[in-house]
Amino acid sequence: MATGLYETDEELERSTNKLMAIGFALMLGLVLIFPLYRLVEPTSRQDERDSQLAALATSGEQTWSVTCASCHGLNGEGGVGPALNSQQFLSSATNAQMELLISVGVPGTQMAAFSQDHAGPLTSEQIKAVVTYLRSWESTAPDNANWRTPGSTSTTTG
Ligand code: HEC
Repeated sequence: MATGLYETDEELERSTNKLMAIGFALMLGLVLIFPLYRLVEPTSRQDERDSQLAALATSGEQTWSVTCASCHGLNGEGGVGPALNSQQFLSSATNAQMELLISVGVPGTQMAAFSQDHAGPLTSEQIKAVVTYLRSWESTAPDNANWRTPGSTSTTTG
């Protein structure tokens, strides 16, 4: 009784071969696309990271000029407070150390606590942004071993 979909074995085989060919083509497509995806994806993630850091630094720059520049100088050259635009300072302080210091301040000095947890004006996001901005100086920061005593040109006293 040849009443099925496939009249002959030959027809069934042809149909099976066709399905296998389609399956193989799909698999080949995935195999080829996946490495391409892996090639492109890390770049786009790095780009995204870079642009996020740039945006954070820009908002940090605003906080800096409003909140910090009066004591540390608009370009971090120092004033009442230390010069933070200094190779020596930036290479010795980690972001986490800076964030902590800015959050809690330095008791007994003019460096107040800036985090809202310590009754300051800044959110932790703003403090992170300011630190990202300070970090952005590092590649061009001048050699300044006397960064703690801005304005001093003397090398005879410490
Ligand atoms: C009223 C002046 C004043 C303001 C405003 C101020 N600072 Fe300071 N800051 C100081 C002084 C003074 C010191 C040095 C404290 C000490 O003697 O250790 C200091 C120290 C620091 C240090 C530590 C440097 C070190 O010794 O390692 C950092 C970082 C810093 N300030 C960041 C900031 C940031 C960021 C802001 C703005 C959110 C800011 N400061 C606002 C006066 C100020």
